[in-house]
Amino acid sequence: MSIYILAIESSCDDTSAAVLHNRTVLSNVIANQQVHAGFGGVVPELASRAHQANIIPVIHQAIKTAGIEKHQIDAVAFTRGPGLLGSLLVGTSFAKSFALGLAKPLIEVDHMQAHILAHFIEKEGKDSLYPEFPFLCLTVSGGHTQIVRIDDYFSMQVIGRTIDDASGEAFDKAAKIMGLSYPGGPMIDKLAKSGNPEAFRFARPMIADLDYSFSGLKTSFLYFVRDQLKINPDFIELNKADLSASIQKAIVDILMDKLMKAVERTGIRQVAVAGGVSANAALRQAFLKQEAEGNIEAFIPEFQYTTDNAAMIGIAAYFKYLKKDFADLSATPYSRSTAR
Ligand code: KG4
Ligand code: ZN
Repeated sequence: MSIYILAIESSCDDTSAAVLHNRTVLSNVIANQQVHAGFGGVVPELASRAHQANIIPVIHQAIKTAGIEKHQIDAVAFTRGPGLLGSLLVGTSFAKSFALGLAKPLIEVDHMQAHILAHFIEKEGKDSLYPEFPFLCLTVSGGHTQIVRIDDYFSMQVIGRTIDDASGEAFDKAAKIMGLSYPGGPMIDKLAKSGNPEAFRFARPMIADLDYSFSGLKTSFLYFVRDQLKINPDFIELNKADLSASIQKAIVDILMDKLMKAVERTGIRQVAVAGGVSANAALRQAFLKQEAEGNIEAFIPEFQYTTDNAAMIGIAAYFKYLKKDFADLSATPYSRSTAR
């Protein structure tokens, strides 16, 4: 079977469109929104306006780069949620009109499932190893932090979750305290490379079961920095690298601790990581270390599929297409995750 899918992602602050041929990505165009940089977070109203400005050129570019004609598209996929409603509406409305215009089926995709299913994107020229069911996935982004058990492409169970902030938020908030611009995760990752992860120690949460908490860590970081600034107003400037490496280590330790408990508890040793925070070098290293020690078989996504992108929406849609699981025009976006 030969299937071409046009996929659209607009759940937060990236406008993205991709064309897939079966499991192969032909194009994956992403327009980042710089407008939020100075605000310390995504401003919803500005995000939806930017999506409106970006969506047509981004889709046009995705189809052009893929080297196909519009009439070859077999289905149009879109992110239905979770995410910012105003942002989701732009992609959803566009997908509906486009599918209607082409007289092709419409496929709705859950953003968090898509982050996980990105692991099934065809890997070119490499010894392609894909996770086998059941596997675990640590799903870490700006809005979510979950341990998910995956029994089939669309049979997933959240077995651990954050009770407050997401791990991406922990990175972003720590970055904001240090005066770095949004999103702070990639900046902390970069600065941490020349810092000492043992320089400062921050509180680790005591949370039951497989759940996470990051709000205490943020507060501990905030108070520590505030106290140090009283002693030396240049404290942040002089210690940016060490602060970054230390907060990053705390976040990664917390993530890995519960994940390894989940491995122990479920007996599942194939373990993937997905979502924006899976771009983090220290987290990727922690996965490889566990693999080297023989504790898990690690699946780390290609860097380009870690943060928000439409290729992951396309691969999820491909598996739905095979099941003829199509959406109708009444599908409306949802802001909160359905997997609770
Ligand atoms: O998956 P994603 O692109 O969007 C959401 O679905 O939320 O994740 C964005 C999050 C942000 O919090 C960002 O700071 C974080 O992922 N992030 C990182 C890195 N790259 C992105 N965090 C740590 N290290 C990175 N290299
Ligand atoms: Zn995401």
